[in-house]
Amino acid sequence: MNVVVFSAKPHDIAFLTAANANAGHELCFHEARLATETVALAKGADAICAFVNDRLDRAVIDELGASDVRLVALRSAGFNHVDRAAAKAAGIALCHVPAYSPHAVAEHSVALILTLNRKTHRAWSRVREGNFELDGLMGFDLHAKTVGIVGTGQIGAVLARILHGFGCRVLACDPTPHPDCLDLGVSYVDLAELLAESDIVTLQCPLTPQTFHMIDDAAVARMKPGAMLVNTSRGAVIDTRSVIRGLKSGRIGSLGLDVYEEEGELFFEDLSNRIIPDDVFARLLTFPNVLITGHQGFFTIEALTAIAETTIGNITAFERDGRAIHPVPDPAG
Ligand code: NAI
Repeated sequence: MNVVVFSAKPHDIAFLTAANANAGHELCFHEARLATETVALAKGADAICAFVNDRLDRAVIDELGASDVRLVALRSAGFNHVDRAAAKAAGIALCHVPAYSPHAVAEHSVALILTLNRKTHRAWSRVREGNFELDGLMGFDLHAKTVGIVGTGQIGAVLARILHGFGCRVLACDPTPHPDCLDLGVSYVDLAELLAESDIVTLQCPLTPQTFHMIDDAAVARMKPGAMLVNTSRGAVIDTRSVIRGLKSGRIGSLGLDVYEEEGELFFEDLSNRIIPDDVFARLLTFPNVLITGHQGFFTIEALTAIAETTIGNITAFERDGRAIHPVPDPAG
């Protein structure tokens, strides 16, 4: 198939080209993000391949449909950025990569927790400058602390196992408890109890209408004073303004983010020579107890290999059988 790949970074080109070696699709890579201004690049393609910050709203999808694109192959697990009803109406099939490496994201959540707690990022720059003062670097033992995991799907369940290994008491909140978590002795509670009891709250649920701004002023007010909040799921699960208020009041003791509500304007680009116009994001950067990474939870060799192989497998199956291996669930359920 002729496939136009949007938001193609050097790692995408390398891993997709390797996965395509035996499949023989014609891949045309564009660094541009998919948007109304760039959708014309898809002209003549049978399929397009998109990532998390590509725009797949009704306007773009209608344009893709008008260009006879038949498949949108997402190289992500999440599909919250896609207007699924519009794709259905335009006769465009959607597929995604439901699982690649839950370990990659779970381990990144642990990296954020450990870094924020033991302040290794601050220690690194101090020591490089010959400053061996410990003041301000004190952490706490993770052992015996209570960690609340919101969403124990593939990633949350791996995270529960890792934290169990640290000797943490693990609480979880999920409408569908995971059997591995139940075996580990994880206690399922409602969100209010999880927030009230946890020294660390970590978000591993998808972004849905139900989870949009799940962490708002009321949720922050329920948190244990000084608790750590970590989000590696999707930015809009958190109302960033509420969390900033929580940081200012001290209710939130520290914050680790790999995702941000408005990250589409920022992440995956080098903006180091530009002024960041987003005042909310700029405010977050001023807190010493906030650690932000630019959506790199998935960024491991194993995950990128699996993403590329599953994406190419989806495209091949669609070409052969008219159905991808991992279609995105229908919006009607
Ligand atoms: P999954 O579908 O296996 O698990 C999600 C879990 O969340 C399910 O068990 C579901 O029942 C639960 N859930 C849904 N609504 C909930 C609610 N209101 N309260 C509590 N739990 C709820 O998904 P997986 O693979 O574990 O990924 C989770 C999310 O992580 C993805 O949707 C994606 O947004 C994000 N992600 C982030 C990445 C990164 O690079 N930072 C990479 C991959 C995924």
